[in-house]
Amino acid sequence: MTVNRQALLKSRPHGLVTTDNFEFVDAPLAEPGEGEFRVKIEAISIDPAMRGWMAEGKSYIPPVGIGEVMRAGAAGHVEASNNPKFKVGDAVSGMFGVQQYVISNGAMVSKLDESQASLERWIAGLGMPGLTAYFGLLNVGEPKEGDTVLVSAASGAVGSVVGQIAKLKGCRAVGIAGGPEKCKYVVEELGFDACVDYKAGNLYRDLREACPKGVDVLFENVGGEIFDTELALMNVFGRVVLCGLISAYNATEMPDGLNNIRSVLVNRLKMQGIIVFDFIKEYPQAISDLGKWHAEGKLKLREDIRDGGVDAFPDVLNLLFNGGNNGKLVLKV
Ligand SMILES: NC(=O)c1ccc[n+]([C@@H]2O[C@H](COP(=O)([O-])OP(=O)(O)OC[C@H]3O[C@@H](n4cnc5c(N)ncnc54)[C@H](OP(=O)(O)O)[C@@H]3O)[C@@H](O)[C@H]2O)c1
Repeated sequence: MTVNRQALLKSRPHGLVTTDNFEFVDAPLAEPGEGEFRVKIEAISIDPAMRGWMAEGKSYIPPVGIGEVMRAGAAGHVEASNNPKFKVGDAVSGMFGVQQYVISNGAMVSKLDESQASLERWIAGLGMPGLTAYFGLLNVGEPKEGDTVLVSAASGAVGSVVGQIAKLKGCRAVGIAGGPEKCKYVVEELGFDACVDYKAGNLYRDLREACPKGVDVLFENVGGEIFDTELALMNVFGRVVLCGLISAYNATEMPDGLNNIRSVLVNRLKMQGIIVFDFIKEYPQAISDLGKWHAEGKLKLREDIRDGGVDAFPDVLNLLFNGGNNGKLVLKV
């Protein structure tokens, strides 16, 4: 009998996620009902936000309940269907969860064109992280030709796309990443103008050198000391796109405040958070633009695909918090 391996949230993590926070179960394989279809999940998107979804407290989305399948974006193929819009063999993506199979009625499910890109890429640079970069930079950051755009976690899923779109819009793109290998990739492969290794220990000095005209658009993925240092380089009327604060996602105490918050006042900065799901109505245009740039070779994408199935989920997730991933992190199931 085929079963559906699932990761159920057993307890809320304190600090980094551990295997003990999950119960791994073999549920019976469900049959689709009227208007439903079953997807065999093949690739699960591993995202920093998943850590937040496990925590209690007010957020933009309710937390995953104890005993529920861990929430996740994922992609796979339809293998049984009672829904005329979704046929057996169709490639699809949606919020399918950390499990091997899902029953869906088609709500919030997208069909994927595998002749254009792999399943993994459709949940990476051509999916949610690419869309975050697109709307965060273009709609919130409002870059103008000649602007300097600075992005942290620059070698990752979101940051790598931010810098490349900035270049397409005629900006100077500067990244921040951990270690010389990642910085080399950001400049030599992705075409950023510069990338600063924050682990080298001279962040302010190195950023000043990489941004001789200051920073007009800051796309923030990390928070903490890195964000505080970047604020000191902002130009008058600059824009700060607050996309992520990954350095604090596993914090067990309140993080320190910002010493350079005065920069927002004296430089009349605009700072706005972005949640990609707010732009859902505009996804088709963005997917079309990202797909076009990708097909033209102007948008380079890299996935870091890990094996291990559903049971590997906690260990694979933690790679995001120690910089162990090289590109968009995906778990094969
Ligand atoms: N608001 C939204 O709608 C939305 C949507 C998607 C993602 N995001 C946010 O975007 C950010 C990037 O997500 P992603 O999926 O693209 O992940 P990613 O950049 O592919 O991977 C995370 C990277 O963050 C860096 N990092 C982790 N802990 C750090 C720390 N303490 N200090 C400095 N750097 C650290 C590591 O890179 P290094 O090796 O370079 O340190 C790591 O590889 C996250 O903050 C995420 O929450 C927001």
